[in-house]
Formats: sequence, structure tokens, C-alpha cells
Amino acid sequence: MKILVINGPNLNRLGLREPEVYGTKSLTELEQELINFAETQKVELTCFQSNHEGDIIDAIHESENQFHGIVMNPGAFTHYSYAIRDAIVSVTTPVIEVHISNVHKRESFRSESVTAAATVGQIVGLGFQGYRLAILALKELRGGTQK
Ligand code: DQA
Repeated sequence: MKILVINGPNLNRLGLREPEVYGTKSLTELEQELINFAETQKVELTCFQSNHEGDIIDAIHESENQFHGIVMNPGAFTHYSYAIRDAIVSVTTPVIEVHISNVHKRESFRSESVTAAATVGQIVGLGFQGYRLAILALKELRGGTQK
């Protein structure tokens, strides 16, 4: 099984950016941890990060014939990108939305996700663990025994 992890804007600043909110580990550490975890689950993981809406949209479109699922943290695009929402709806690839922080405990604008309704589900506030849970959820969704 092949899964694409998409991290959106400013997530390349993990470890440096608001460590009290997002922790002290870098994006590279997150991606390496996820690749190691995915291996134990017989999942082939590809990690992608972009600060650009169009590149994220392209990655979603191109996922269709390459990946069985997407784990996506759209960053601040979550709160206003109808274009990313439409991209998710335009493909058959199942998407699980992840947020490292508990967006409901923060500024009110973070409580709204315009993308979540287009996804299978959302995992919020569990730190990096959220990404691992999303991988497990996609795997279960597809049926545990398939490759
Ligand atoms: C975030 C929450 C968003 O509100 C914020 O803009 C981010 C990160 C999270 O992972 O908690 O960039 O998606």
C-alpha cells in the first residue's frame, strides 16, 4: 500500500516555529519517524511539503493513480482554501486531515476547516501521533491484508 503525506505551508518550519505549540522536532525528523513507522506497517510512504497552494493541488491530482491514500496537514490553507477542498473532491484518493495542535483550543479562525468536509476524517491535537493514526486509519479503510 502506498500513502502520500502532504504537509502544507510553514510546516517546513517545524522545530523552529512556535515550539510550545508544535514541539521541537523538525519536519525531517517527523518524516523519518513516519517512514520508519510505515515500514513496520508494510506501507510505502512518500512525503511532500509545499508552501504553495497550486503545488499542493497538483500533488492531490497526481495522487490518483499513484497512491491509495493521502495524509494531509494543509496548515493555514485548512481555514480558507476552497481550491484545496475542490481538489480533494475531484479525486478518488481518500484523504485524512491531520493537525498537530488542537485547533479548537486556539484562535477562533482555526476552528473552521473548509477542507475537512471533503476528507474521510480529521485527527486534531495529538501531535505527531496524529499522522501515525492517520496511516493506520487509511490502511484499515483499504482492508488490512492488501499490499
Ligand atoms: C496546523 C494548524 C493550523 O491552524 C496552522 O495554520 C498550521 C498548523 C496544525 O498542524 O496544528 O500551520 O495545521
